[in-house]
Amino acid sequence: APAAAKARVLAGRRVVITSGPTHEPIDPVRFIANRSSGKQGHAIAAAAREAGAEVTLVSGPVALPDPPGVTTVHVETAREMQAAVEASLPADIFIAAAAVADWRVAEPAARKLKKGPGAAATLALVENPDILAGVGRRERDRPALVIGFAAETNRLVDYAQTKRLAKGCDLIVANHVGEGSKVFGGARNEVTLISSEGVEAWPSLDKRELAARLIGVIAERLARTPP
Ligand code: CTP
Ligand code: CA
Repeated sequence: APAAAKARVLAGRRVVITSGPTHEPIDPVRFIANRSSGKQGHAIAAAAREAGAEVTLVSGPVALPDPPGVTTVHVETAREMQAAVEASLPADIFIAAAAVADWRVAEPAARKLKKGPGAAATLALVENPDILAGVGRRERDRPALVIGFAAETNRLVDYAQTKRLAKGCDLIVANHVGEGSKVFGGARNEVTLISSEGVEAWPSLDKRELAARLIGVIAERLARTPP
């Protein structure tokens, strides 16, 4: 993998990557979020930079440093993440590694909600925009390669393949998550790559190794796609 980085296989390419969770406010002190450390997305941003790309990383709230040499845009909510992604296009490659909250609270409270006697609070939710589908289905300035992730607890290949088609992606990196899985916050990741060319199960890898290997796949695919 370091060989791919040394070869600067993405020199002259623009890459936009989302990483981390989004936080959707309930009130000034509470939020809804997904499990995501941002380790995998940030590792991909670093690997793309090492491969010579010009990289914009749109990151939700994470406890990680900004990768050196990468333009990092910090956001909180899904809608902020979408706006930052749109503002950083056009790009040659878009990689959606973020765990975007699927829903936001319809009307976040301006003041802290208080506990009280009687029924527990219920939250009215509305669906967030799908950032990946928005990029994958663009008619103008669609990146040459659009790559999504899929977190599934079951029927991994099935669900991931359906997501790939629904969101107009070239490639889906599918993660098995849930009981027994150590992917959240861990150093390693085991994924299955799903494209129109088939299904490829990768061994368990350190997240940085996985990132370098993914950059190799991306460079190889881009080489087949004229700029
Ligand atoms: N994604 C996105 N915007 C959203 C939701 C998801 O860009 N509002 C992206 C993620 O970054 C990931 C891919 O879509 O690359 C799949 O995310 P996932 O949560 O697995 O799929 P969903 O389409 O949200 O479906 P579900 O959570 O119901 O399985
Ligand atoms: Ca989701």
